[in-house]
Amino acid sequence: MPETRKIIIDTDPGQDDAVAILLALASPELDVLGITAVAGNVPLALTEKNARKICELAGKPGIKVFAGAVRPMVRHLVTAENVHGKTGLDGPELPEPEMPLQKQHAVDFIVETLMREEPGSVTLCPLGPLTNIALAMVREPRIVPRIREIVLMGGGFFEGGNVTPAAEFNIYVDPHAADVVLKSGIPVVMVPLDVTHKALTSAKRVAAFRELGTRPGLAIAEMLEFFERFDESKYGTDGGPLHDPCVIAYLLQPELFSGRYINVTVETASELTMGMTVADWWGVTGREKNVTYLRDVDHEQFFRLLVERIGRL
Ligand code: BDR
Ligand code: CA
Repeated sequence: MPETRKIIIDTDPGQDDAVAILLALASPELDVLGITAVAGNVPLALTEKNARKICELAGKPGIKVFAGAVRPMVRHLVTAENVHGKTGLDGPELPEPEMPLQKQHAVDFIVETLMREEPGSVTLCPLGPLTNIALAMVREPRIVPRIREIVLMGGGFFEGGNVTPAAEFNIYVDPHAADVVLKSGIPVVMVPLDVTHKALTSAKRVAAFRELGTRPGLAIAEMLEFFERFDESKYGTDGGPLHDPCVIAYLLQPELFSGRYINVTVETASELTMGMTVADWWGVTGREKNVTYLRDVDHEQFFRLLVERIGRL
């Protein structure tokens, strides 16, 4: 049997985070060592609870969920209830979780896990602001060379930003944390808006989840119907972008994505462009390459993979 890939999902659920978590929990190639919650789309008290709701929806109450940072490193927390609803997971009626929240702090869990596991064996999958990841690197710098890879949803360049004209939400919320991560020297794969705006839902795609006839399938359909309305009215598209599931899909089938190894630097000074990810696509700066910057996805295959995997839950 092929070896499974060990991952930690760092997340701020969020409907698209929820689909990403479900995809990971449905995939035997991935060993989810833990889920760490961070403040982002909604405050931490909701994101950690939502993460537990999703584990139970997947039928996996044994997954360990940890609560992390309540706010970004330097700036005030900005949330996105306008996109995700008051709970962060508006759409379906999901029961209050019964599985406990772990007592350990998420940052300590990340540090302890990376120090315990074989160096180069654990991949971090951040789906929200990078606060927990940066705090872990600052708290215990010896973890940095032990990380196999960081595959994150964040940033945008050709597509512009989604929360300001220049910045994507996850990076905008904690640009200083993003700066720490991008300068860490660890191989980073970035899944920016340039990709996720090509992974759009549609009435047919949402129906495919509903037609699975399972609780997770129905809940996803209800979540996406709530979530997509914001981007549909903003961009005039027939559907909304499934940002975070692209991270997990990349781990499962990297051949669905294409991009370039380039330098990416984040803006942390100017209020006008705060959190902008400046992608040196044409290599004009001479700055050291630090990121595999993805730009395209085979969205048909991506949705096929998603529905097939969710159907296993
Ligand atoms: C990112 O921000 C959040 O609203 C989504 O969950 C995603 O991680 C997209 O900009
Ligand atoms: Ca997210």
